[in-house]
Amino acid sequence: MRPKRRRVGIIIKTAEELAAMREAGRIVAVTLAALREAVKPGVTTAQLDVIAEEMAHRQGAVPSFKGYRGYPASLCASLNQEVVHGIPNPRRVLHEGDIISLDYGVIYKGLQGDGAITVPVGKVSDLARRLMDVTQHALGEGIAQVRPNNRLSDIGHAIQAYVEGEGFSVVRQYVGHGIGRSMHEEPNVPNFGVAGRGPLLKPGMVFALEPMVNVGTYETAVLEDGWTVVTEDGSLSAHFEHTVAVTADGPVVLTLP
Ligand code: MF3
Ligand code: CO
Repeated sequence: MRPKRRRVGIIIKTAEELAAMREAGRIVAVTLAALREAVKPGVTTAQLDVIAEEMAHRQGAVPSFKGYRGYPASLCASLNQEVVHGIPNPRRVLHEGDIISLDYGVIYKGLQGDGAITVPVGKVSDLARRLMDVTQHALGEGIAQVRPNNRLSDIGHAIQAYVEGEGFSVVRQYVGHGIGRSMHEEPNVPNFGVAGRGPLLKPGMVFALEPMVNVGTYETAVLEDGWTVVTEDGSLSAHFEHTVAVTADGPVVLTLP
């Protein structure tokens, strides 16, 4: 008889695994904070990648993106109409008025942390400022749903309802994910959808929530480099991400300093 295909499902983490994920998350948060300080007109995205890579190693961690499906860097640096997965480049110089999304992950004691922020380069437009604020707040709306006995789709529903109420759109083509010993575990965590669907959330589950929010259409395209995701209409996009554990007391954000 053919063995049944093993279904992994959503992996529940042990207390020990959660402790290592907290440390991985701390390293991600500290590094993103340093990168935020380094963002200035004239800096290149390749220089930011060097900082990101060195900070992982100095803190006893390994950058998780480098080599993942052939990705060539430790950091994703996505400017303006770029949504996610921008590849650091020594010729890509930051200019006053840009916004830059910085996405970064590390592995510590075999466990993963994953986070992202979008930051202004110098002074930015009111629209760019509001897009960043709405996206960060949307992540908070999603995190508030990460508690036992809620269902998975409650997260995306809360994010979508808030973002669309602010007049922006939520990217459909890329989603958050379970995270643990692998960067991407079951389940997918969409940033959109109806409430009350999908698996019940249980203590010990850990999710990377990562709303990507566009000023215009939610449709995206991938550039010739095979990685860089852009908005189809060229409108601005922002991205915030936290790694969040479900506990009996509610959500615990692991990607904090
Ligand atoms: N935070 C992103 C994700 O969860 C980072 C992956 S970029 C890659 O998918 F380069 F590593 F693929
Ligand atoms: Co992620």
